[in-house]
This record gives sequence, structure tokens and C-alpha cells, in this order.
Amino acid sequence: MKKLASLGLAAAMATSVMAAGHDFEINVSKKGAPIQSTMYGIFFEDINYAADGGLYAELLINRSFEFPNHFAGWDISGKVKLMADGPFDKNPHYVRMEPAGHNDKHTMIENRGFFGIGVKGGEEYRFSMWARVPDGGNAKIWIDIVENATMGEDQKLGNVGIDISGKEWKKYTAVIKPRRSFDSAHLRVWGDGRVTTDLEHISLFPTDTWKGRENGMRKDLAQALADLKPGVFRFPGGCIVEGTDLETRYQWKNTVGPVENRPLNENRWHYTFTKRYFPDYYQSYGLGFFEFFQLCEDFGCEALPVISCGLSCQYQNSIRDEKKVHVAVEDLDPYIQDALDLIEFANGDVTTTWGKVRADMGHPEPFNLHYLGIGNEQWDEKDNPVFTSRLKRFMDVLSKKHPEIKYIGTTGPDSEGWKFDLLQPRMKELGVDLYDEHYYRDENWFLGKAKDRDGNPLNCGAMRYDSYDRKGPKVFAGEYACHGRGKKWNHFETSLYEAAFMTGFERNADIVHMCTYAPLFAHVKGWQWRPDMIWYDNQNMFKTVSYYVQQLYGQYKGDNVLACSMDKKPIAGQDGQDGLFATACFDNEMNAVIVKVANVSDADQEVKFAWTGKAKDLKAGFKSAEQITLRAVGMDDENSLDNPLKITPKTEVIEANANEFKIPAKSFQIYIFKK
Ligand code: AHR
Repeated sequence: MKKLASLGLAAAMATSVMAAGHDFEINVSKKGAPIQSTMYGIFFEDINYAADGGLYAELLINRSFEFPNHFAGWDISGKVKLMADGPFDKNPHYVRMEPAGHNDKHTMIENRGFFGIGVKGGEEYRFSMWARVPDGGNAKIWIDIVENATMGEDQKLGNVGIDISGKEWKKYTAVIKPRRSFDSAHLRVWGDGRVTTDLEHISLFPTDTWKGRENGMRKDLAQALADLKPGVFRFPGGCIVEGTDLETRYQWKNTVGPVENRPLNENRWHYTFTKRYFPDYYQSYGLGFFEFFQLCEDFGCEALPVISCGLSCQYQNSIRDEKKVHVAVEDLDPYIQDALDLIEFANGDVTTTWGKVRADMGHPEPFNLHYLGIGNEQWDEKDNPVFTSRLKRFMDVLSKKHPEIKYIGTTGPDSEGWKFDLLQPRMKELGVDLYDEHYYRDENWFLGKAKDRDGNPLNCGAMRYDSYDRKGPKVFAGEYACHGRGKKWNHFETSLYEAAFMTGFERNADIVHMCTYAPLFAHVKGWQWRPDMIWYDNQNMFKTVSYYVQQLYGQYKGDNVLACSMDKKPIAGQDGQDGLFATACFDNEMNAVIVKVANVSDADQEVKFAWTGKAKDLKAGFKSAEQITLRAVGMDDENSLDNPLKITPKTEVIEANANEFKIPAKSFQIYIFKK
């Protein structure tokens, strides 16, 4: 092995010789492409009960009685009537509770939450409802958090009474403190049986939400997102942006303003996979565009909303029915107007129509929107530019009126193939700033070994972007995850391959400007799609190994790529490199050189780092260094609710100028050398 160029103290180590290994040469002076602040982000879609029943901390299902089955999620007894002339015009239904007819009988409604209601003993829960006594008088309403699982004397975990008076609708609130924890409680609302009472928008939140907000997010889940240090946040989907039909597409205007008056929408994930069918899965929009923007602000990241381009889901709708299921190109104006209004909602001052809506919601300052996605997984037919004809209409108007915004198109649902081949050049022609690529692919693809049906190698793995056109739009890898063949869960092996693959993002930071793993969230009892990054039940959550991979990239993002070679050859994919994938960067704030290496082979690998560059940069050496290791005992090992910390990154301090390392078989290592 050659004598290594080394920094300061490392000279001492240069005498040791390794039997076999690989030499990395990293130029600490030559700062390459900047790594964008948006590089590693998060993608939110309401799939797997990610919003209602997940991040959105509301504990009651169907709180406004607007599900098509108006009592879905509710058990009723006594004299309960459904009424339809309530105080909120977009959610007009409410319940009338009449006296049950005898002092010993009670009219009662009971909500079962999302797979039950998770409560923690000793913590506070804010109950609220709108109510009135239509015939006058005073009513007493009891609110009980109950459980039926134990043999205790009293089902109540906690309760509170509320006095209702007045014929006008008013909002009532009360705090309940359950005596002990329970993950599948119910909420019971019942009257003293004497006075007819109307109830609407019945709601229960933990008071301890993320940042203590009333219409807040589940704290543990929001914290997990913040801990990713995301640079960009794409929302609100995914396929739900498009809708199964235009009527059910995501319309952002329905998701802002008072929560009581945000109309319900269906959620396509309730019926998409008939093997996992969830008839009570709807979108309440309690988590809407205002809340998404607010989260972006909390996380200090760029917001990236995606809007419908006038095409409903192309998987679900044959293009033969184009006129019926999609908006004709000449009728797109209202859709384009929605996009313009969204920019005004985010950035307009308080005197504008939509800026005022934002201000009325408590945020007079602009949200500083810089990015907008147009369409999700859209594509052109070979003989019909279904998507690009629409995208062009949007681009013609938007880029003129708002040149300050960066627009994001798409290369469709596939990482390669005819749809991709058609769209990629068209994105360049249309002048979008970035295009969104999606790939849920297997191990071979992530390792750069996948072939097409004719045996030709696909452009995949960590070298995918090495050959991309440098003059085209930038890349947003908007949805990706390694799906293990025959296994579709978050086991260690697939996460390791994601880590290896992501070295290609960093090395190609000149054109890859954003990437977001998908999907983000899943309720263990309500998932439709896996793998996912973060899993939870009603009380607890766990982070998958893929989460930790994303977090490590986010935390050790760096500011500029550093030139890094292996055995005097440029770093690319796996071939000829013994299953090693690597990349190096410089981080200004840490004043550190960061080297990331994934070893996907079955053997431990000995490596040596040689530092090159200007004498002044090499002279002082490093002051301190750390090594972070992510590895597991078995390739199928995974984190779980029972064992959430089974596989986590381990950090150790290493000698500042060490330069010889053993990269364990099947591991991901990060080295941080601080100057
Ligand atoms: O992430 C799940 C789905 O995968 C998204 O909704 C869609 O964009 C893709 O097909």
C-alpha cells in the first residue's frame, strides 16, 4: 500500500501497513458542488392513517358527523337524532340528544377514536364541542373517557360535566385528566335526560401537543420529524393530490380557515387495496395547508406544496375517458387560479384576499413559499401529451406571474421505461426547475444491478445520476424506498441499501437538489402500504432503520461535496469496489470533513483515508473526530414497538487523525473529522 498523504498526527499512523484494503483519497481543499439546504427532506401523505389517527392529534373520529354513514365511529343509545342545519355550512350535520323518556334512561353517544383512543394517566385532555339547548332550559352533559377491558368497578378513567344553556350555538371546553393510561379508550357523551341538547364538532385533544397548539400535532411524531432536520417538506401527497376522480382531488382551499368548517373528503387509501380495506378512513383536513406551512416554519425548512394539474389519478382512470375524468386543457383556468391563490395565501400581504385568510388564522407574516409542485405521478401517452399539455398551461401563466417560484414537474411513476423516457426531455423543454422522480424498487435496483427484460442494465443504484444531463432541470427524488423482494417491511438490509444508494445523491449534488423517502408514517393497525419511515400506535412510536439513515444524512448533510476517489478511481457504484459506496463533503458550521461509507458486502473492509489539498489546509490536522456506525446482527432485524431501539446509530470518539479503519460487513459508517 502506498504511503498516504496525511494530516498532522496522522503521520505516525502512516507506518502501519494493512494486508489488503482500499485507499480513499479526499481533497480537503477542493470544494465541489454545493449541497442544497433542501437536499434531505420529508414527504407527507395521508396514507396509513398519517393525518387523522396519526400526526394530527385529534383523538375522535368523525367529530362533525359528516362521514357518509353519519354515525360511523359512534355508538348511540337513547334518543339521538341526526340534524342537518348546523352552524357550519360546509359541515351541516350535528346530533340532537333528546330526553330518553325516563329518569333512569340516558341518551348517549360514544366515540371509539382511531383504533381506540390512547390516553396517558395524569395527563390533560382538552374536550370541546359546540352546543345549544334548542328549546331553552339548562342541560348537564357528562363527558367520560372510559375503558371496558378490565374488571374494575368503574369504567371511567376520567370525566367532566359541562352545563349548557342558551338557544345559540356556543363552544364549550373542559379538561379531563385520566387516572391511568389506556390505549383503546372510548369517549362517552351523555345527558342528564331532562333537556334536549344539540351537539356539534365534538373533539378531544391532548393539551400537550407539538408546541402546545390547540389544533395541534402529536408531539412525539412531530418531534421525530424535527429531529430529521429536514430541508424541505413536500405535502399533501401523493396520489391523494390527484383524487380517484376530480371531485375528490385535494383542494387546498377546503383545508384552511376554522377547522369546524373544513369539509370532509374521502381518502382513496380507504379502498385502494382491498386486502387492507379501511371503510372509516376519511380526510377531516384538521391538518390542512396552514398547519403544513406552520410545520415547515417550525422545522426551518422549505415548503413544497403539490397541486392537482387537472388530471385525476391516471392509474385509476383510462385516458380513453379523458373528457369525462380529467379537466380539458381549455378549462384549466380555475385550477391555475387555485395555484395563484395558493401563492397569495403563502406569500401575499395581509391586504390580499388570501393573505388575509392566512392573517386571520394567526399568521400575518408570509410563509415565504419558494417551490410549487404541479401534478404528482402524471404521464403522457405516446400519442397524447395528456400531462405536458396541461403542465404547459400552468407554466405559461405561473412562470410569468411568479418567476420567483421554482416549479416542479415529474417524470411519472417509474424510474425508467417509456413513460420516463417520454417525460424527461419534455420537462427540459417546458423549463421546469426540477422534476420529481419516484422509485419503489428492490435490492438489485438500489445496488445498481437491476436489468430490464432483455438483460440490459438499468440506470439505477448509486451511479444513477452520474450520467444525467447537467443542463436539464434539477432532480427531486420525491418518493423512494427499497422494497425487499418477497419482504416488504423495514428490515435492516433494505435500509442499508438506501444508505449506499444515497451516496449517489450527495456525489451528484450539482443536479440532485432534493430527496424525500416515502411513505413517512404508518399506524400499526391501519397501514395500507409498507415499508414506511415511522410507525406508531395510539401511545407509542418507533423509528425504522430507514429513519436513522435519513436522519444521518440530514444531520451530516454538509455544504459542499469533496472530491473523493477510491484506489485512484472515481467513486461510482459497486462494481469493482468490493461493495463499498462512499462520498465525502465539507460542513461549514461543524468545520468538518464528513465521509460516509456503506459496506454492503459480506466481508469487513479495511480502508485508509489519504488527505490531499493545499498545504495550508493540511498543516493543522484535525482537532477531533467521531465515527458513527449503523449496523445490525441479522439482515432481517428491524425496530418495532416492542423493541424500538434495537438498531440505532452508535457514535464513538476516535483519534483525531486516525486514517485507517475497518468498515464492518453490512454496515453504514460516517466519519466526522473536525478542524
Ligand atoms: O407513497 C405512496 C404512493 O406511491 C403515492 O401516493 C404515490 O405518489 C405513489 O404511487
